[in-house]
Amino acid sequence: RLDVTEIFHGILFPGHLHTQDSLQLALKFLFQDTDVLIVSYPKSGTTWMQEIVTLISSRGDPHLSQTIPNWTRAPWLEQYYCADLLKTSTSTPRVLTTHLPHHLLGPALQGTKARIIYVSRNPKDVLVSFYHFHKMANFLPDAGSFPEFLNQFLQGTLHFGSWFDHVRGWTNQAAALSLIHVSYEEMSMNLHGAINRVSSFLQRPLLEHELNDCVKHCSFSCMKDNKMINYTLIPDEILDHSKGCFMRKGEIGDWKTMFTEEQNQYFDSMFKSRMQDCTLKFVWE
Ligand code: PPS
Repeated sequence: RLDVTEIFHGILFPGHLHTQDSLQLALKFLFQDTDVLIVSYPKSGTTWMQEIVTLISSRGDPHLSQTIPNWTRAPWLEQYYCADLLKTSTSTPRVLTTHLPHHLLGPALQGTKARIIYVSRNPKDVLVSFYHFHKMANFLPDAGSFPEFLNQFLQGTLHFGSWFDHVRGWTNQAAALSLIHVSYEEMSMNLHGAINRVSSFLQRPLLEHELNDCVKHCSFSCMKDNKMINYTLIPDEILDHSKGCFMRKGEIGDWKTMFTEEQNQYFDSMFKSRMQDCTLKFVWE
């Protein structure tokens, strides 16, 4: 189903992992109060947070993260294999991941105490990371030229929908949920502090040496070499490893290598008008 795109509530999803049924099931998911849900728009630091949460629950011991793929440890709620995986899973708390926007998943979360970790990243870096990922992902449409891709990003017509709607939707609902917001930039600039914050939120306080072990094992270089998280287990027909690398650069500010001054100004003006009602304060360079 590599050439199939599922359109669900007007948003495109890759058909090799999503079906109408799996997407529909996600909206009716019965959350447990003990669940941990990692929420992000793609390319915002999802995999990094999956690794952080695994390492926190194993107190810095990398055994789990080096033996079980991230999509089994923290499956995407909306992907077709999730329901079966959860039937046989005994892990508590359950760790789930989603790229769904709040306007779709919000109703299922109403009244739950499930802990939500919302991960965001400078949208310019998200866009550049997504652009490169499109070149290697055979389940995504051709990226086209960078200016074309940039326009699609701004219009919200890429797979997984609009970055603006995603971030606005989740962050504006934060107060009604048990939600912590962690940015890619925070993880990048102060990984130790970010892991500490997440471990407190999950009520899994760590000893200093356990925290240091977590920091070590979720560094970019460690994750790049860990085949359970670097996506090299995915066959070439799906992810063409000759055309790129999932763990590509892992930097903040890489957008500057792609954006022209004019594109940057245009992006900033769109950002300003689209994010007017967003309560979140962003710290980007
Ligand atoms: S996905 O497809 O939505 O699950 O992608 P996601 O994991 O959200 O984002 C992938 C980008 O995150 C970078 N990454 C990291 N950066 C720094 N440190 C660590 N440990 C790390 N792990 C993943 C990854 O390299 C992608 O960003 P780019 O800019 O493309 O390198």
